[in-house]
Amino acid sequence: MVRDQVQQRLAELLPAGPDGDRVCTAMREFMLTAGKRMRPVLMVMAARGMGHADDAIIDVGCAVEMVHGASLILDDLPSMDNAELRRGQPTVHRQHGEDVAILASVALLSRAFQVLAELEGVPAPLRSELLATLAAAVGSQGLVGGQFNDLHGSEGARDVQAVQRTNELKTGALFSAALEMAAMTAGASARARALARDCAVQLGQAFQLQDDLRDGDDSALSGKDGGKDAGKCTLITLLGREEVQRRLQTHLQRAFALLAELDGQHDDLVAFAHQHFRST
Ligand code: IPE
Ligand code: IPE
Ligand code: MG
Ligand code: MG
Ligand code: MG
Repeated sequence: MVRDQVQQRLAELLPAGPDGDRVCTAMREFMLTAGKRMRPVLMVMAARGMGHADDAIIDVGCAVEMVHGASLILDDLPSMDNAELRRGQPTVHRQHGEDVAILASVALLSRAFQVLAELEGVPAPLRSELLATLAAAVGSQGLVGGQFNDLHGSEGARDVQAVQRTNELKTGALFSAALEMAAMTAGASARARALARDCAVQLGQAFQLQDDLRDGDDSALSGKDGGKDAGKCTLITLLGREEVQRRLQTHLQRAFALLAELDGQHDDLVAFAHQHFRST
């Protein structure tokens, strides 16, 4: 299974550091704690569906998952969402202190780019394109910009479009990069790359809406402390749960329609997405 392959490779790419290296310990322990691995699973399935048979895509998936992990560690900090639980464990700053959490996050970002730069059997121009795509997804027009908007969005009046844009940046940017990187690695056409991106934008929106709908869930189910969206401007506060459920389904349908146009065979990916979103 792709999840197991990703898990095993993450353990190899993030070895335990020398004794007493608390940053290395925090990076490794956090990254090996079971997450959904949504982004690498989607990207590996998409690349394989487009005919890519090489294991290089697992390393590309691990790099994306490291960026995701880094973003979660930062998101949980007291200056951000101030969360206590993540993946059923105390958050990294609660376990290791804020200094170690920030450093582990930066080191994970740096490790992600190193993994891409050192990909075996991948030509240098492709490695460089993968690096540029992932770097853009992290930056001020990606995760970072989205996170800032999310934290400061409730300071003024915000409309549905602004919140959608925030979700597109804070969550969609990494989904888009993941599926575009899958298409690149599979050597797909420019049209297929664009379709993969568009499809990921829809999946990212659906994913964030599902996450928002589950904010009140029991921690035993979500592995996170619920209610962290209190006081935030989300599509739920603007439109209500029912309309958000409806929009989530619309995003999914759009994603499936785009996948149907994408080169290759994507039944596995469609089945995986249906399974993931089935209870929403
Ligand atoms: C949480 O991501 C942050 C969002 C973008 C909603 P995930 O729901 O993928 O978290 P893990 O990786 O499974 O812990
Ligand atoms: C996720 O948004 C944004 C990130 C990219 C980390 P949330 O703040 O809603 O994610 P959770 O609910 O803490 O996982
Ligand atoms: Mg947040
Ligand atoms: Mg959060
Ligand atoms: Mg959330």
